[in-house]
Amino acid sequence: MPAQIIDGKRIAQQCRQRIAERVARWTAETSVRPHLAAVLVGDDPASAVYVRNKRRACEQVGIRSSLHSLDAATTTERLLELIDRLNADADVHGILVQLPLPSQIDTQRVLDAVHPLKDVDAFHPENVGLLAQGRPRYLPCTPHGILQLLRHCELPTAGRHAVILGRSDIVGKPAALLLLQKGEFGDATVTVCHSRTRDVATITRQADLLIAAIGRPRFVTVEMVRPGAVVIDVGINRVDGQLVGDVDFEAVREVASAITPVPGGVGPMTVTMLLHNTLQAAQTLAGQRTAGPP
Ligand code: GUN
Repeated sequence: MPAQIIDGKRIAQQCRQRIAERVARWTAETSVRPHLAAVLVGDDPASAVYVRNKRRACEQVGIRSSLHSLDAATTTERLLELIDRLNADADVHGILVQLPLPSQIDTQRVLDAVHPLKDVDAFHPENVGLLAQGRPRYLPCTPHGILQLLRHCELPTAGRHAVILGRSDIVGKPAALLLLQKGEFGDATVTVCHSRTRDVATITRQADLLIAAIGRPRFVTVEMVRPGAVVIDVGINRVDGQLVGDVDFEAVREVASAITPVPGGVGPMTVTMLLHNTLQAAQTLAGQRTAGPP
């Protein structure tokens, strides 16, 4: 039987509806509108599209967004000055620095400079550390979006073997940490494969849950998937003007029990979790402020 198609677009719309209600309620109570500052450096067309989509999604749920564009030749110092300004601006609750940054910029220094409470991507070492210790402040957007898809589709992870392809700081590593956590939609046995892993297919064939996040079009073939596995495709690759994932969707859907499409799978959920984090950041900062100085 062909796989259940996990409709990320529909699930994201449902989540955004609930976030919009929470934003409206909180704004009515406090007269504060959550505000996401998006930082875009350079003129990478894909990044510009991602940022536009994120800002549009903000407006949809009542979150204010502002765009801070810097030219491609910007230095690390200039970008750090902007981050400092946004950190100090009490009207800004979340800061999103769209990646990748141009090669002359020290990305780590920039991400480290974002105030940890405004770090809605959960890239700051303090937030990564809290996640690793099992007491997360903000959940990283893509891995959180994946867990929400699994929750909506009632696909539990406890005791299952989750195999993650890719060890990036944005997806692979934090997804492994989340799936390892104790509790619902954690408690998985996790294997992370990467470019130096030997005999990847032998490992992926053991997966109950296979998450592909390597950025290689149609890398996961049907031979790599155990019949009945749940397959989550994080890849967004452009091939001949078409968007394709890291999974050979048409073949793999015939053996998997559930699978995400590209587009319309994980992508809309990543943006939705960013909205969730921005509201949470606004509430956290407001709580700090009303609590007064330490
Ligand atoms: N570039 C690709 N994915 C992401 C993401 O989740 N956040 C940011 N800031 N940049 C990205």
